[in-house]
Amino acid sequence: MKKLNVAVIYGGISSEHLVSRASANTIISNLSQEKYTVIPIYINKEGSWIMYDNYKDDLKDFKWEKIGVDVSLSVNQTQKGLLRLVRDKAKLISIDIVFPVLHGLNGEDGTIQGLFEFSGIPYVGCGVLSSAISMDKSFMRLVAKNVGLNQTEYLSFKANDFKKEPDKIVRLIKKEIDYPCFIKPCNGGSSIGIKKVHDKKELLEAIDLALHHDKKIMVEKAICGREFECAVLGDSFSGEINVSGVGEIKCEHEFYDYDAKYMDKSSYTVIPADLTKKAINTIRDYSSKIFQAVDGSGLARIDFFVEDGTNEVFFNEINTMPGFTSISMYPKLWEAEGISIGVLLDKLIDLGLKKGLGREQKIWKIEQ
Ligand SMILES: Nc1ncnc2c1ncn2[C@@H]1O[C@H](COP(=O)(O)OP(=O)(O)O)[C@@H](O)[C@H]1O
Ligand SMILES: [Mg+2]
Repeated sequence: MKKLNVAVIYGGISSEHLVSRASANTIISNLSQEKYTVIPIYINKEGSWIMYDNYKDDLKDFKWEKIGVDVSLSVNQTQKGLLRLVRDKAKLISIDIVFPVLHGLNGEDGTIQGLFEFSGIPYVGCGVLSSAISMDKSFMRLVAKNVGLNQTEYLSFKANDFKKEPDKIVRLIKKEIDYPCFIKPCNGGSSIGIKKVHDKKELLEAIDLALHHDKKIMVEKAICGREFECAVLGDSFSGEINVSGVGEIKCEHEFYDYDAKYMDKSSYTVIPADLTKKAINTIRDYSSKIFQAVDGSGLARIDFFVEDGTNEVFFNEINTMPGFTSISMYPKLWEAEGISIGVLLDKLIDLGLKKGLGREQKIWKIEQ
């Protein structure tokens, strides 16, 4: 069988740049060498696309940035692939599929997915609309509400609203949400720019911080409880939707912040989660519903809170390119279902290729 050329794009202009490097490292080292020719493409913090000819194992090492060659994606559908740029000459390298291992802005938000659609190149994961909706916490919640998911009370506002009437917004937060609450950039990830606040002083500091990350802010009532995650693999268009079991996140911080996620060795996961059957069923049902509601394809990890005392399940968020670091929940949840990471990556590539084929057939029909 012919080997497929798989371009793994990682890094990116995103506050989750380093997380992406770690995820790509896991993915590249677990892609089958018999089935795929892996082409790693690193987008550095300035936005340069860099390709390596003879990459070696640890792509987290920054030395790679210096020894690659410039490359860009051809947006010409009659010349699909990567354009390798060496001394004023461009050479086309054909690729069968792109695996965008990019988290957060410019990678998980539909922007790069739009570029792939435009280029006519199949890619792994959710499409433009599902990525964009899932990335923006305020839109994600509207969709979740529409399909009846229980979620925390929240409100959102734009930077300009706050600039015009800060006191009014502070009063509204106190009245509608109250302390303690969470302040988040609407478009973000890895807990970057997120604070839990207990009074007005902390609130103002947190809004200031969140506004450095986004022009739109989310305020949510703080849930006192435990955190759970569930994985989805499939395609909402073909109706093939697989939902994993549920895992719990345990950490010693006040909440699951950036350090707790990636730095603090004391954070760990428990799979399967020790929860009531009823709560497990709700989490799995919600995961399937939100994946379908956002038109998901490929993969997503859905996150929840279960409140202490009441055992009430709250939907928190959907992530369309969940972390793939060595400690990440998404691959671990599938491993617990008997699907090794290598097989999981094969399935994701297969889903991406099928999605691409569906798109080509649609275009062909239009032309007839
Ligand atoms: N409403 C909430 N109640 C309790 N904890 C929360 C709430 N919102 C966020 N958190 C904490 O903050 C973390 C990050 O928030 P989240 O909305 O998942 O943002 P991100 O997209 O950055 O992961 C969560 O994993 C959780 O620990
Ligand atoms: Mg989260």
